[in-house]
Order: sequence, then structure tokens, then C-alpha cells
Amino acid sequence: MSDTVSRRSALWLLGGAVTVAAAATGWSAVPAHASGHRVAALLSRLTLDEKLTLLHGADDPHSLGQAGYLPGVPRLGIPPLRLADGPAGVRVARHATALPAPVMLASAFDPALAREYGEVIGREGRALGQDVLLSPMVNRIRTPYAGRNFETFSEDPLLAADLVAEEVRGIQGQGLIATVKHFALNNQEKDRMSIDVRADEQTLHEAELRGFEAAVGARAGAVMGAYNKVNGTFACENASLLTGVLRDAWGFEGWVMTDWFAAHSTAAAIGAGLDMEMPNDAYFGEALKRAVRDGSVPEALVDRSVRRVLSVMDRFGLLDGGAPPRPARDAAAGARTALKVAKAGATLLRNEDRALPLTGAAARSLAVIGPTGALPFVSGGGSAHVVPDRADSPLDAITARAGEGARVRYALGEDLFGRALPATAVSPGADFEGQHVAAGATWTYDGTLTVAEADEWTLVIHYSGRERPVVLLDGTDLFPLAPGYGEYFAGGLVSAAPDGLAVRRATLRLAAGPHTLKITAKGGADGQLFRLRRITGATRAADVAEAVRVARAAASVVLFVYEDATEGADRTTLALPGHQNALVDAVAAVNSRTTVVLNTSSSTTMPWLERTAAVLQMYYPGQEGAAATAAVLFGDCDPGGRLTQSFPVSDDRHPVAGDARRYPGVDGVEEYSEGIHLGYRWYDAEGVEPLFPFGHGLSYTTFAYDDLDVRAEHGGLVVGFTVRNTGRRTGIEVAQVYVGPSPELRLDQVERALAGYRRLELDPGDSRRVTVRIAPRSLSSWDAVRHGWVLGTGRRRVEVGASARDLRLTGYGEVRVADRR
Ligand code: BGC
Repeated sequence: MSDTVSRRSALWLLGGAVTVAAAATGWSAVPAHASGHRVAALLSRLTLDEKLTLLHGADDPHSLGQAGYLPGVPRLGIPPLRLADGPAGVRVARHATALPAPVMLASAFDPALAREYGEVIGREGRALGQDVLLSPMVNRIRTPYAGRNFETFSEDPLLAADLVAEEVRGIQGQGLIATVKHFALNNQEKDRMSIDVRADEQTLHEAELRGFEAAVGARAGAVMGAYNKVNGTFACENASLLTGVLRDAWGFEGWVMTDWFAAHSTAAAIGAGLDMEMPNDAYFGEALKRAVRDGSVPEALVDRSVRRVLSVMDRFGLLDGGAPPRPARDAAAGARTALKVAKAGATLLRNEDRALPLTGAAARSLAVIGPTGALPFVSGGGSAHVVPDRADSPLDAITARAGEGARVRYALGEDLFGRALPATAVSPGADFEGQHVAAGATWTYDGTLTVAEADEWTLVIHYSGRERPVVLLDGTDLFPLAPGYGEYFAGGLVSAAPDGLAVRRATLRLAAGPHTLKITAKGGADGQLFRLRRITGATRAADVAEAVRVARAAASVVLFVYEDATEGADRTTLALPGHQNALVDAVAAVNSRTTVVLNTSSSTTMPWLERTAAVLQMYYPGQEGAAATAAVLFGDCDPGGRLTQSFPVSDDRHPVAGDARRYPGVDGVEEYSEGIHLGYRWYDAEGVEPLFPFGHGLSYTTFAYDDLDVRAEHGGLVVGFTVRNTGRRTGIEVAQVYVGPSPELRLDQVERALAGYRRLELDPGDSRRVTVRIAPRSLSSWDAVRHGWVLGTGRRRVEVGASARDLRLTGYGEVRVADRR
């Protein structure tokens, strides 16, 4: 017989979390009753116009380059609020610590590290003049194509929830208000502004909402509504989410803002529970004022939202007449944490015959290949892109670490930025390597590009300024502007040249002979620098030949490959972009000691896998990525990361493959028809073998698991086991505990769910007894009939191991409803 946890007892479960979280968050300095008085007093003195300035964004007269601004009400001592992205560091127009991407943080399976990461961003945000951080992002990784998978944590809800809660505590502990985003189901970029994401109630709660709930439990000050619709209604005016779930079920006390330009209505939105429109006033400015005046929105609703904003500001000491002092930046501390996270999240996917760490001859004769071997891949594109304090080249870091006497040779392998056009190819001649267009002027070119032999060409433009030059080849616009807001976002690395100019590419087959070429470049306000370059089949072949030559002459190869993901666009394939697969094949064919280093956002297919010696996933490793990569390659530290998402074998063997309704959606509707079976749960349910499973990652040493012991405790389970380092090096293990379904629940259940984990560092020969407590929530399912969590009672399978597919111990525990007396 199963026990049903009612709605009230579901809240009771949550209640425990809230109490613990509140105690652990340092910014409750203002006692609630005092705060209530102050806020009420302010509210009574605010005019309607003043109230509205607290509910929508405005232009910042003293912008620091952040995303959003509210002017405050100086007359009453309500200060302005500056709101900055984002998930991998503070995004303003100044330098900041560029931390590794959140997916890399998550790979460490270490909530304490998430707190430290949050603390760095919290302090920097305050130091850089900000009050609100537009982070963390906690949407599930659902589709491997999603452009923002690097910005969020995991396909697993428990891991994401643990990390988001600690990161929020870290950020807010420094006095910066955290905004958990994007509520909810913003799991793909394709059509993100309009797509209607349909998920049933059980799926919504089990797969997506847990991280948001944890952020609320950690007292995040703000929530950002998603662009998309959820079950037919835009997320930013979705009463069942913004009021039913967020306020009524979870007791959220902060404010809800829109994503940027995600408001769609006035009365419906504020009525549903939206408090703030960003970054402008299309619906919550004059329109809201009119609605209050004509009675279609009661002023009490405006007051409710203002109260929420002011209450959070008060909690953070911003209404005390003179905001808390801002700390100085501590760039050195930020860099230390960035390095620590990049090492901790480095995930070694493959290591044949101990190819890594590099030692002996392999460490003294090295070929470094790939554009991102020389140019550091710091962060992904879009609003998570940070202006880094600095970033070294991996080549330099590897050369320095290899030391004197070592021979390190570099080859580009794949050209990202193009070569100068041969003077003979264009007529009349012009300076295509540095055309300066004066401010206010327009430069036009009208001539001919002559191609000697039919070939694939990539034409590459580099330009400064905001206005993209127009290039017409045979009358076709090669670089048309992407529609709408999407244009604002481009990738992180490959869309900017090393000297900072914007870069765009167009690849086409050109017939031999003349082609008309017309260019218009405008100087705009500041003048424009313009280049036109090219990559051809012939230059490509020369780059690969050079890489092969350098690889052949070296004892071992470190081959850097990249994939440039960004907000605003999904990937169209899981393969590496450009001709990188062919490059890996060519290099691995001549040097069997080839290590591939991945600077990629999410899962990647690897048709060349079997021909490589090692594969190291470094994601977007932040500003200290070069040092971290070198440290892992040479074995100065153990690769500490484990996959937080399953990697599929191919584009047609993953949870959203082969069903357009699942992804990318049909007629504007995307369906979570896999239900609760996201990520590894889908691979288990369908019996599909992934390329690499969730939780996978190799150490340089080996571990044994023994002595499993499972017992019941307060509605949960206590799992004990022993992990022993059986190798010859100190190493990191992430021991993972998975639970199987309840035999007594008549709800859809997953075959295996992560219920706990422990990151361990063990010296050779040492063993550790590990105790993992599994909370009732991790043993519960969401009952859509009763609208609450149901404890999955009875005999539950418990598996312990090193990944979702490397399970070393199996036991059983009897789950019983706790005696609450
Ligand atoms: C993104 C948000 C971001 C906001 C402000 C939006 O396009 O979706 O995550 O915080 O822009 O930059």
C-alpha cells in the first residue's frame, strides 16, 4: 500500500528546507516586523508614478554596462537598482572574473564549491556597482542541442537543486540579490520567445521545478520568468506558475521579473503574479497607470508588487538610508576560485593505456593543435559572456609546464578568422585587410572577385562598430541580419577576432571565374574598421597537412577542438562545427597518442573516439582555463569532474531525437512527451546505450566500492559504503547513489534516479566509509491527482557506483512513512 503525502504534508516537507535555508543565509539582518513597518511606511508615501518606477526597467543615466536598471525613488531614500548578468561571472562593461561555465561547476558534484563560486560573483557584483544578479540559471538540460546548456547545471534535478541553493547562498551572503531563472521550462533556444512548452504536472514537478524550489528555499530574492509559454500561457503571465506554485505552494516572498522583453500584457500579467517588467516599460509603465486609473487593475495589486520589491531591498539593507558599503574587487581571489573550479570540473572521458597524465617522452615532445589551443576559449556567448580579467593561451601554459628542454610545436589545424585575399583575386584592388571608414562616412566597393578553380570558400568579414557591412556576392547578401533580438547574441569565441572585431562567416561553393562583389560599410558614430578575408578548400587542406606534419613529428598530441554555443540559438548538429572531425581523424591517424581537449558546451558526438588515446572535456573553462588544462594534462591534479548530462552516440539516439513534437516543436508547440524520463532516465527506460553516461568521468587512479549497508530513517534511507583508492596516485572519486522505483506506487516512475552523491579525495591505499542520507523527497513522486508529493514506500533498490552505468554495489531498503510525533 502506498502512502500519499497530502498537499499540506508536501509543504511540511518543504518547510524543513526553508527553515534550514533561512538560517544559513546571512542577509536577514532586518527583523521581519521592522522591515514590514518600514516598507509599509514607504508604500504609504509613494505616489502611483513612483510606485510604477519600481516595477519596470529604465535607461540608466550612469550605466556600468549592466543589463537592467531601476531608478529608485530618491525623494524617499529608495536607491536605484542595477541588475547584471550572469551565470559565469558579472557581465558589465568592465573586467570581471570569468568563471568556468556553470555546467563545469556542476561537474564537480560539490555544493560547497557552488557556494564559493556564488561568493565570488556576489562580491564582484557588489564591487562593480550592481545590486541584483541575473543568475543562477537552473533549467534542466533536456535537449543536447540547446544553446544554453553550458549556462545551466544538469539533466538531473537533485544535483541542480543542491547546487543552485548553495550558489544562491553564496551570492546573497555577499549582499547581492540573486535571480533564479528562467521560470520555467526554458530548455531550448529555438523559438524561445514564443514556443508553447507542454509538460504534464508530474513532469513539471519532477523534472524541472525542483531547482527553482531549492532556490526559493535558499531565499533567492528574485525569480525571472521565462520567454516561452508553459501549457498554453506565457510564463510571465502564468498564474498557475507565478502564484499557484511559487507563492502558494513554496511561499516565495521575493519579486518576479520578466526575462528581457518577455512581458506580453498588463492586467493579465500583474494579476497572475508578475511584479516587474524588464528592461523597459511597454506594459508596466503608462499602460499600468492607465489600467489602475480605469479600474481594470486594482492599485492593491501594484502595492503588492511594490511591497515585494521593497521587502527584498530592505532585507538586503538597501533601504537603510545609504546602501551597505561596497567591497573592493578581489581579482586574485576570483582567479583562484576560477582555477579551482576548472580543475574540479575537468572531466576525463577516455584514457587508453594511461595516455594521460603526460609523463616521460610524451611530455617532452608535444604537438599542440587547434585554434583554441592558442586562443583561449573562455566562455560561451550571449548574456553569460563576461569580459575576463585576463586569459592565457593553453599553448603557453602547456609550454611552460613542459619546461626547459621539452619541444612543443603548434599547428592551427582549422582556420577561424581567414587569410588575406590575394591581391590578384579582386579587381579593382582595395585594402581589404584594414579599410578605415571615417565616422559618418560610407565606403562602397564595386568590383569583381575572381576564383581560379571551383572550390568551397568561406568569406569572413571582420568589423568594428555596431553596423554590419553589407557584402553582396553575385547579388546575394552574404551576411543578412538575423531577425529581432537574436542578432544581439553571437557566439563567445569565434564571433570575435583576437583584436576584438566582430566576425561573420559565409560558406559557399564558388565556380571558377569572375563574381561580382559589392560592399557597403558605414562609419557610424565612431568610424569603422573593415576586413574581408577568405578560407578555401586549398587553405583548409594546407592547415590540415601542417597539423599532420607537426603531429607526426611529436611523441604526443594535444588537439583542442571547440563548439561555440550561445544563447538565442540552438545547435543544429551534435557534431563539432566546421571541419574539425576531419582534423581529428587526420591527426589521430598519424599519432596514436592523441588527446582531444573539448571546449564544448554540452554533449558532442565523437565519430573519431576509438582512434584517440584520451578525451578531456574542459567545457568553457573561464579565464584560468589554460592553467587548469595544463595541470590536468600533466597530472598536477586529478581530473575532478563527472558528466552532469548523458552524451549520445549520435544525432538520432537521444531523448528528443526523431520526434519533432519533442524537439524543436511543431506549429509552435513543444511537448515533453518523454514525461519524467529526461536524460539518463530516458536511456534507462529505452534501453539505449549512451556514448558516455551521466556521472561518468575517469580519475588517474582507481577505486573499489565495498560493504553496502542500507537502513530506513525518518521516511528516508541512510546508505553506507566504503570507497578505497586502489591505485598509486591521490585521486578524486564522485560516489553516486541511485534509487530504483517503489513497488507500491501506481505512478510513472523512473528506473533509476540519483538520490545522493559524495565527492571524495583519497590517497593511495586509503579508504573512507561514506554515509549518504536520502531525503524523503528523493524517494517521492508527484501525484497529479492529489497535487502533491507521494512517498514511494516499500522495498527500494539502492545502487552505488561511479556513474549511472557503472554501478558497483546493489542493496535494498524499506521505505516507510516517518512517524512525525
Ligand atoms: C536572457 C536572460 C538575461 C537577460 C538580460 C535575456 O535574453 O534570456 O538570461 O538575464 O537577457 O541580459
